[in-house]
Amino acid sequence: MRSFSIASGKGGVGKTSFVINIALALEYLGQKVLILDADLGLANVDIMLGLAPKFDIRYVLSGQLQLKDILLETEYGFTIVPAGSGINELTQLNTAQKLILKTQMEEAFKPYDFLFIDISAGISDNVLFFSQLADERIVLVTPEPTSMADAYAYLKVAYRKCRIKNFNIVINMAKDDSEGKRIYQQLLYVCEKFLPDIKLSLLGILHYDECVKKSIRSQIPFLKYCPDAKISTKVKEIAYKLINLKRLRDSNNLAEFLERFTQL
Ligand SMILES: Nc1ncnc2c1ncn2[C@@H]1O[C@H](COP(=O)(O)OP(=O)(O)OP(=O)(O)O)[C@@H](O)[C@H]1O
Ligand SMILES: [Mg+2]
Repeated sequence: MRSFSIASGKGGVGKTSFVINIALALEYLGQKVLILDADLGLANVDIMLGLAPKFDIRYVLSGQLQLKDILLETEYGFTIVPAGSGINELTQLNTAQKLILKTQMEEAFKPYDFLFIDISAGISDNVLFFSQLADERIVLVTPEPTSMADAYAYLKVAYRKCRIKNFNIVINMAKDDSEGKRIYQQLLYVCEKFLPDIKLSLLGILHYDECVKKSIRSQIPFLKYCPDAKISTKVKEIAYKLINLKRLRDSNNLAEFLERFTQL
């Protein structure tokens, strides 16, 4: 299982939409995908898909249910780990609690090829916990100056506090490819100047498309709602890239993920 955390610094830049649609794109490519909704305040993933989970991670932490029993299968093939407000507790477990959960994660996560962690905006300890937990990070940035500034703030804190060096960048809501490239170059320039040890790679550029908003209103992933839109093709290209990401091939990612979970 390869894991990715999705961060942005700024809120409302399209993290949850991206997570849902990249999950579906990977399902189309025959991958089994799990989404951990780790956005503290709002259970975004459930709402975007029109789901109302009965249980969440709090039932697991209190010992009432096993992790495998709360997993929510969706009609799209991918599965959700509903977290609710239990997500904060998840980052503050003692060693004994972590070991119990580790055993349950090992069993529950084994069948999956990918895990996406949809984390909150900002640069809180919670955000940094999940950023460190995943194998890789995807950072979403839009052309708004505030999004660029907040993405940079996230990169800086993730590097300075957690020594994270590799980041995958997705530019979202670009007017066209040339605007997307320009935004990426600006971010790269600032990072090379002030954070020379970190390494950015551009995963893809997604355009602004009204079909994203319409699909959310209909509570259907845009890959299904508007399969022929350019944004759907682009997300499929990113899914293909993730499968072939060199850094993650041939290593025992689930064991390393569980090890990090107990160490953090
Ligand atoms: N490529 C796009 N084109 C047009 N609108 C988009 C695009 N991507 C996202 N949006 C819109 O931006 C809004 C925020 O998206 P989303 O909820 O996915 O962001 P988020 O980063 O998860 O937000 P939050 O920080 O609140 O969790 C939604 O209304 C969505 O329709
Ligand atoms: Mg969200």
